[in-house]
Amino acid sequence: MGEAVLILGATSAIARATAAAFAARGAALYLASRDLDELQRIASDLRIRYGVEVHYAAFDAEATETHAAFFQSVLANMPDLSGVVLAFGYLGDQQAARDFKVGAKVIASNFTGAASILSLCADHFEPLQRGFIIGISSVAGDRGRQSNYVYGAAKGALSLYLQGLRNRLYASGVRVITIKPGFVDTAMTYGLPGLFLVASPQDIGERIVRTLGKQADVVYLPWFWRYIMLIIKHVPEPIFKRMKL
Ligand SMILES: NC(=O)c1ccc[n+]([C@@H]2O[C@H](COP(=O)([O-])OP(=O)(O)OC[C@H]3O[C@@H](n4cnc5c(N)ncnc54)[C@H](OP(=O)(O)O)[C@@H]3O)[C@@H](O)[C@H]2O)c1
Repeated sequence: MGEAVLILGATSAIARATAAAFAARGAALYLASRDLDELQRIASDLRIRYGVEVHYAAFDAEATETHAAFFQSVLANMPDLSGVVLAFGYLGDQQAARDFKVGAKVIASNFTGAASILSLCADHFEPLQRGFIIGISSVAGDRGRQSNYVYGAAKGALSLYLQGLRNRLYASGVRVITIKPGFVDTAMTYGLPGLFLVASPQDIGERIVRTLGKQADVVYLPWFWRYIMLIIKHVPEPIFKRMKL
C-alpha cells in the first residue's frame, strides 16, 4: 500500500513544495484549497513531473459546516489515507486585524477552521491506529507581539491544539507533528518590512517531509529559529513590553 497524503491549503508556496517532496517519493496526493483553477494547474504539474495519482477539491477552512462532507469525499477517493498536512493560513493586514471584524477572519482561517478539520482527521485515524497529522503553525505563536498578535494568537492556539492532539493520539500510534517556520519567501510575506533569515519554500517543504523519518514532535524550520525563539520567549515581560517588536 503506497503513501496517500491530503494537503490542506495546497496552493500555498510551502504546501506546493511539500506536495512535490511527497510526490518525489511516490505518494498519491489529494490537494485542497479554495482556488480550484490553481489546484488543477498544480495537480497537472505534479502528475507530469512525478507520475503520481493526484486528486483535488475545493476546501474552505472558514466554512466549517462543509468539513465533514469534504473529508468523506477525500476518504471515498483515498480510503487508505496515510496522513494530512495542514498548510492553510492567513496573515492579512495585522494593523486592520486589531478590529475584531477583520481579526475574526484571521482567527477562523488559522485556528477555528484548523480545529474543525483536524478533529475529523483525528477521529478517522485514531481507531485505525496509524496515520500522521502535520500542522504548519508559526514562530509567531510562541510569543505575543504588538506587530502581529492576532495572527500570533491564532497560531499559538493552533500549536496548543496540536500539542493536545499529539497527547491524545500518542497511545493510538498516530503521529502529530507541529511545524514552526520562521520567515519564508512566499506570497504571505511578500513586501513585509523587517524580514531576516528568509528561507525558501522549497527548503521548508523538503524538510517538512523529512520530519516523518525523525522522532521530533515540534520542529522549527530552519532549525535556528528554535534558539531565536528561546531567547525571545525568555525576555522578561517588563522589558518585552517596551520593545517595538
Ligand atoms: N511565509 C511565512 O513566512 C510563514 C511563516 C510561518 C508560518 N507560515 C505558515 O505556513 C503556511 C503556509 O504559508 P505560505 O507562506 O506558504 O502561504 P501562502 O502562499 O500565502 O498560502 C496561504 C494558503 O492558505 C490558503 N488559505 C487561506 N485561507 C484559506 C481558507 N479560508 N480556506 C482554505 N485555504 C485557505 C490559501 O489557499 P487558497 O487561497 O487557494 O484557498 C493558500 O494556499 C501557513 O499556515 C502560514 O501561516 C508561513
